[in-house]
Amino acid sequence: MQKPILKLEGFSKHFLLHEQDKVIPSSHGVNLEAYAGKLTALIGPTGAGKSSVLNGVYRTYLPSSGSILYKTKDERCVDLATADEHQILDLRRHEIGFVTQFLRFLPRQATQDVVAQPLCRKGVSYEVALSRSQEMLAAMNIPERLWSVSPATFSGGEKQRVNLARGLIAKPRLLLLDEPTASLDPKTTDAVVELIKDLKAEGSALVAIFHDPSLVERMADDVVALTPPQQIEKKSEKI
Ligand SMILES: Nc1ncnc2c1ncn2[C@@H]1O[C@H](COP(=O)(O)OP(=O)(O)OP(=O)(O)O)[C@@H](O)[C@H]1O
Ligand SMILES: [Mg+2]
Repeated sequence: MQKPILKLEGFSKHFLLHEQDKVIPSSHGVNLEAYAGKLTALIGPTGAGKSSVLNGVYRTYLPSSGSILYKTKDERCVDLATADEHQILDLRRHEIGFVTQFLRFLPRQATQDVVAQPLCRKGVSYEVALSRSQEMLAAMNIPERLWSVSPATFSGGEKQRVNLARGLIAKPRLLLLDEPTASLDPKTTDAVVELIKDLKAEGSALVAIFHDPSLVERMADDVVALTPPQQIEKKSEKI
């Protein structure tokens, strides 16, 4: 039987607002597995903690409890909940990608360089990375006249496509997607679906949140449903 490359056990996240003596609960007791060549979809109502799960795996957020076991390319088992920063940065560079809803980029950097960067960081030459970046931008229907300018002033949909091109270009072993097609037209959504299928066929594992239930039906091999957390509690009552 296939073994998961990612396994969350009892993952929970809450946020402490010290100055207000409040605990904001988010994800609670989440169990989830991701497999090479498969897509696990996270579903649940708004505020159920879906994005918090992806942020925990990518370690933008430190989990409050639970384990996030990740099997690396060289077969080491790392708990992403407790791994040190150095290990996390190394995995982000070589194995784990995250397409968030919002693109963060360096000002005044050309779009084609923003997209090429993850490949360059993996050790690919600039020329090869640039040509691959241009292919990705073309696949995402970003007009060629925009490739050499910064995405700072792009529309929401254009930024999202740049974000996707950047997330998919290096073909990460584990890819986290947070509503990647939320502001795309049907034609570009179809192009993204094809790219995700290619990635699966090449053996990447994906964990994804889709705003559109029909995409879950089209893309998901497994579905994990989250339920919304309890009411906001007083910190002093909780701990
Ligand atoms: N940085 C943060 N600080 C405080 N509370 C946060 C933070 N991030 C998320 N939360 C809270 O955690 C809860 C879950 O948020 P999360 O973004 O994970 O939900 P979601 O399921 O992704 O929702 P949506 O479908 O609207 O994107 C919310 O109540 C949110 O306000
Ligand atoms: Mg979210």
